[in-house]
Amino acid sequence: MSPSTSRAVLITGCSTGIGACTARILRERGYRVFATARRSEDVARLKQEGFEALQLDLLDSASIHGAVAEVLHRTDGHLYALFNNGAYGQPGAVEDLNRATLRAQLETNVLGWLELTNAVLPAMRRAGEGRIIQNSSVLGLVALRLRGAYVTSKFAIEGMSDTLRQELHGTGIHVALIEPGPIRSEFRANALKAFRYHIQRDHSPWHETYRAAEARMANAEADAPFTLGPEAVARCVVHALEARRPRVRYHVTFPTRLFAFLRWLLPARAMDAVLRGVSRGENR
Ligand SMILES: NC(=O)c1ccc[n+]([C@@H]2O[C@H](COP(=O)([O-])OP(=O)(O)OC[C@H]3O[C@@H](n4cnc5c(N)ncnc54)[C@H](OP(=O)(O)O)[C@@H]3O)[C@@H](O)[C@H]2O)c1
Repeated sequence: MSPSTSRAVLITGCSTGIGACTARILRERGYRVFATARRSEDVARLKQEGFEALQLDLLDSASIHGAVAEVLHRTDGHLYALFNNGAYGQPGAVEDLNRATLRAQLETNVLGWLELTNAVLPAMRRAGEGRIIQNSSVLGLVALRLRGAYVTSKFAIEGMSDTLRQELHGTGIHVALIEPGPIRSEFRANALKAFRYHIQRDHSPWHETYRAAEARMANAEADAPFTLGPEAVARCVVHALEARRPRVRYHVTFPTRLFAFLRWLLPARAMDAVLRGVSRGENR
């Protein structure tokens, strides 16, 4: 591990959850943290907490490029790492997704990350070093019912990151994927908002299942089994920043390790049966 003193890290989605926690932990370790959020009130709060906070909305190219320009200006062109983290989950069966809903999911979770990554890479190439850390998910490895939009976005991030890692080989820039299982955050509350906003539920063949899923998402108190706090992800981010050779994939939580193993072990249809069982269990 190398000392972290004042290396600059840009993080997206710092209003809550994993982004907020990682920003605090990295600052405590001596990093210069550029904590970004899309809403001005969250940016103001982060500034009050002492962060160099900037507005960055992944849906808005001008906001992405404005934030990167400001970070590079303040660091004299030296941004060590980007933690792509800001995203949301769009629940709903695949047959209830329309183009606009899937497009919105991919605009935030994939295209925003792509645009931001490509905006910081020239500075990292000039420096001959850098870290791109992608907050993927266990759902970047396996699919679960009623999460098709989110699964599509995280599989896309996995594929894009695997490609980018090969393209950046030998440049000194490392790409690491973090794959959390359930983590305590505002994720479910935000997914519920996206569900109610985008999914026409009344005439769906999934109507009954949706009711159970909605109740589960609305129950902020009940953690899924093996849920960990956001520090578990932050610890992996620290390793991905400080290891001479970061891991390609960080499996956070027992479910991620288990599903990664089962995916390797089982034929696809047997894996489907396991995953259908998980969905049935959680929506009972
Ligand atoms: N929690 C889990 O169980 C879990 C598991 C696997 C992976 N992950 C991944 O972890 C990451 C962080 O999620 P979380 O669990 O910390 O959930 P969270 O508490 O809901 O945080 C998500 C963050 O993303 C931000 N965001 C959403 N849309 C954005 C946009 N257009 N531009 C910029 N920021 C945007 C949110 O901002 P607003 O507050 O403005 O909405 C919020 O700061 C995500 O990539 C998620 O896929 C989470």
